[in-house]
Amino acid sequence: MAVLRMRLLPDPVLRKQAKKIGKILPGLKKLTADMIETMHEHQGVGIAANQVGSLQKVCIIQTPDMEEPMVLINPEITNREGEREVVEGCLSIPGYRGMVKRSMTVRARALGLDGKVIRIKADELLAQALEHETDHLNGILYVDHLASREDLWKISEHPEDEEDGEDDEAGDGAEEESLAVAGPESASQDDSD
Ligand code: NI
Repeated sequence: MAVLRMRLLPDPVLRKQAKKIGKILPGLKKLTADMIETMHEHQGVGIAANQVGSLQKVCIIQTPDMEEPMVLINPEITNREGEREVVEGCLSIPGYRGMVKRSMTVRARALGLDGKVIRIKADELLAQALEHETDHLNGILYVDHLASREDLWKISEHPEDEEDGEDDEAGDGAEEESLAVAGPESASQDDSD
């Protein structure tokens, strides 16, 4: 296993639509093992393939109460209910946190590495992570969901502070700095790489 290079905003790969995986080949096991190691290295609760430069439609989620990371192939949100405001971060946008609207509960469907269907009904952090990671695979970042620029603030330069769901440092050093935020590429565009 290896820690892969984390792609950071504004890397264009973060704005691309990942491609649905047809066959679960051995290379996917290697990629997901490396994604898990990379996620652990950065103390994240989730990671999507775009974030390590791959456009395979796969993500990993491991919330603090999960003993094992969950590999989700071709994940889709099949139902969303309710709305809440949550603080969010992203390993690809180190040093920032934002306030975004997420669903109260979500249902999702994916395949596991064994090819079996996984159905999940989730709330709280798992629901948030499912929405965040499936967004990544569609070229969408949490900053796209900000109601206004004031809903994004700077926390620190250290990426290891990201995605732990805590908001302990909010407020310090919230100086205005430009963060390149561009929308996702349309799904119809050709992903040439
Ligand atoms: Ni992220």
